[in-house]
Amino acid sequence: MNIVVVGTGYVGLVTGVGLAEQGHRVSFIDLDDTKIQKLKDKQLPFFEPDLNNYFEKDENFNRMSFHSNYKSLDWQFTDIVFICVQTPNNLETNSVDTKFLESAISEISKLENQDITITIKSTIPPYEIENVCENVGYDKNLLTFNPEFLREGSAVNDFFNPDRIVIGGLNSQKIDKLRKLYESYNAEVLITDPISSQLIKYLSNTYLPLRLSFVNEATRLSEYSGANLTDVLKGVGLDSRIGSHYFRPSPSWGGSCFPKDLVEVNNFYNQDELNLPLISNIIGSNEEHLHWTVNQLLSLKKNNGLKRIVLVGAAFKEDTDDLRNSPTLEMYNILNEMGEEVIILDTDIEVTGYQSIKQLDEVAAYSLLSIMYPLKEELNNNISNYAINNECIIYYPWG
Ligand SMILES: NC(=O)c1ccc[n+]([C@@H]2O[C@H](COP(=O)([O-])OP(=O)(O)OC[C@H]3O[C@@H](n4cnc5c(N)ncnc54)[C@H](O)[C@@H]3O)[C@@H](O)[C@H]2O)c1
Repeated sequence: MNIVVVGTGYVGLVTGVGLAEQGHRVSFIDLDDTKIQKLKDKQLPFFEPDLNNYFEKDENFNRMSFHSNYKSLDWQFTDIVFICVQTPNNLETNSVDTKFLESAISEISKLENQDITITIKSTIPPYEIENVCENVGYDKNLLTFNPEFLREGSAVNDFFNPDRIVIGGLNSQKIDKLRKLYESYNAEVLITDPISSQLIKYLSNTYLPLRLSFVNEATRLSEYSGANLTDVLKGVGLDSRIGSHYFRPSPSWGGSCFPKDLVEVNNFYNQDELNLPLISNIIGSNEEHLHWTVNQLLSLKKNNGLKRIVLVGAAFKEDTDDLRNSPTLEMYNILNEMGEEVIILDTDIEVTGYQSIKQLDEVAAYSLLSIMYPLKEELNNNISNYAINNECIIYYPWG
């Protein structure tokens, strides 16, 4: 098929490169000209494991084209457009910011080719899209939704081996086009209406942080009770109804999706009409945990007479360079404001504005790394996220 991917971020680029590997012709559009220039030069704008292998392959690269404006594309034979632009939280209105989607749909709605299946991959509630469609004069019933579940750090594998494929829409012709695109996949394809398709996405992104927050509250209770956290979590996770997957403590959860999607899931309902005490308190639990973690680090440092706190890994999780809502950076800011000596140890990511190992001279950096590696070994055998030597406390968020 001829596919257009709008937005070359984590979702758009992984989807488009994966589709090119499957033999489709893929045209990418991004308004960020620097990104497009990089892509034309065969360079990826961010790190995602394995993506470069598929991106750089000549057969794939020759099936892809890169554009920074909508007019430079030949739309005549386009089958499907995947809209993968960002949907951040608008801090003023505390609801999703639709301006990126609006500008994309507005451009595409001007096209003469009305057979194109316009599919929203971005995470967005359909009630928000209704306003967007009204503003740009596009029939909302023609849109299809194909929410994305990939995880940064294993996004390429997730593209080829998804747990499920969800398609939302009301127009059967357009739904069939998507069904055909995905027919070779060995995954259940769930076809439903637009609101259900997005609620599947939003509730998945509610359950996952809920589980992470549960583990973090269990960590606090365990610490308070003087219990052995490793044993406690193992013992609970061995219950087959619970399971030990995705069941480790963290400084708090972050990233580009959970925080904003949890804000939005609470916009799905009128809080005077519906009370969801569990869902509406997950963010609060997470904020509480970040402060608890910072206080833990401070008391360990004080009780052991240590000089500084080293935070390992700048991104919000392993195997990504995505710094959006990174708990490490949030912890750094709190500690730094308190006047604590804190440093970020990340050998891959340069974090401007933060004191990091990259700014140390070679001798100091080497000495820190030589302390770090044996401690990391120690952490592998223990669920705790920190280790101490006679100079510093090293906090490794992914334990
Ligand atoms: N990152 C993830 O792990 C992930 C996973 C599942 C779903 N999602 C959802 O997918 C969507 C995209 O997320 P992302 O992390 O890939 O975003 P991103 O911020 O990495 O990339 C978005 C890209 O869209 C471009 N863009 C913005 N407006 C445009 C326009 N009008 N025309 C063309 N390009 C435009 C931006 O320049 C940017 O390069 C969001 O709704 C997000 O919630 C993200």
